[in-house]
Amino acid sequence: MSLRQILIHPDPRLKKPCDPVTEITEELRATASDMLETMYDAPGVGLAAPQVGLLKRFFVMDCVKDPEAPPRPMVLINPEVIWASEAQNTYEEGCLSIPDQYAEVTRPAEVRVRWSDLDGAVHEEHFSGLWATCAQHEIDHLDGRLFIDYLTPLKRQLITRKMVKLKRDRARL
Ligand code: NI
Repeated sequence: MSLRQILIHPDPRLKKPCDPVTEITEELRATASDMLETMYDAPGVGLAAPQVGLLKRFFVMDCVKDPEAPPRPMVLINPEVIWASEAQNTYEEGCLSIPDQYAEVTRPAEVRVRWSDLDGAVHEEHFSGLWATCAQHEIDHLDGRLFIDYLTPLKRQLITRKMVKLKRDRARL
């Protein structure tokens, strides 16, 4: 296993809709495993394949917050929201591709998601709380959408300018 480099916004690969996964290859397994390691290392609660430069529809997440509780590393392949609550929830979201920037985003409070696992088995689960927010945020990544796309153009530009500067500063090191 190894840590993968996380793409930082703005990057054209973060704006592209991803292709469905049609085959569980060894490369996909290795990438998913590396993505979990990269996510825990960051640390973060979710990471989508395009964030490591692979334009395929899958993501990893683990929203267990209690440090005493066992971790729940999940790999969701070809995920779909099949039901969303009318009730909305506002969370202060962040993104590993937009480091140190946070903003409130309103989304359905609960969602039912269907996906395939690494063995091809189909799962469905009802998510609420942080899990629901995270799943929707990650599925957005697979559609080339970032949480800053929900903000006003002015806020989005402000954050994007900071990221351009951050990338420039990092490139100089
Ligand atoms: Ni993100």
